[in-house]
Amino acid sequence: QSGWTGVNERTFIAIKPDGVQRRLVGQIVQRFEKKGFKLVGMKLIQATEGLLKEHYTELRSKPFFSGLISYMSSGPVVAMVWQGLDVVKMARKMLGETNPADSLPGTIRGDYCVEVGRNVIHGSDSVESAQREISLWFRENELQCWEDTHSHWIY
Ligand code: TYD
Ligand code: MG
Repeated sequence: QSGWTGVNERTFIAIKPDGVQRRLVGQIVQRFEKKGFKLVGMKLIQATEGLLKEHYTELRSKPFFSGLISYMSSGPVVAMVWQGLDVVKMARKMLGETNPADSLPGTIRGDYCVEVGRNVIHGSDSVESAQREISLWFRENELQCWEDTHSHWIY
């Protein structure tokens, strides 16, 4: 469990309530599939404020914290775990910058949103954060270790 590295690295990705409401789930999932990452966990979940406050605990003192928690609890989110080589870093590249204004076209935030407070998607910022977030959002038996029969075309 500790120290997922190489092709077994995992990251936590969540499509935020605006992404679900705007019907962006399919297009976002497709980007991760096309890239070559492996889906090992996925659920549509109405997150509680408690879970979200824990998830964003580092940001507790920020002025935008309460707005962030109410936005994130305003509707269901799609919580996912994706696995693959360097997935934490590459997923962050695919997301773009925190502020959509700084995100290049071609990135998810660069293509789908305009405001930092409605930026469609979350991705873990480090392997350590990914481990913490995955265990916060998922039980071990909700994650699948399935045999990937075409992974030799990716690796
Ligand atoms: P942060 O972890 O800094 O960004 P990221 O999601 O890219 O890891 O912040 C978490 C979320 O908080 C961010 O996705 C959107 C929100 N947020 C604001 O609403 N205003 C802000 O000024 C910042 C920095 C973040
Ligand atoms: Mg973050």
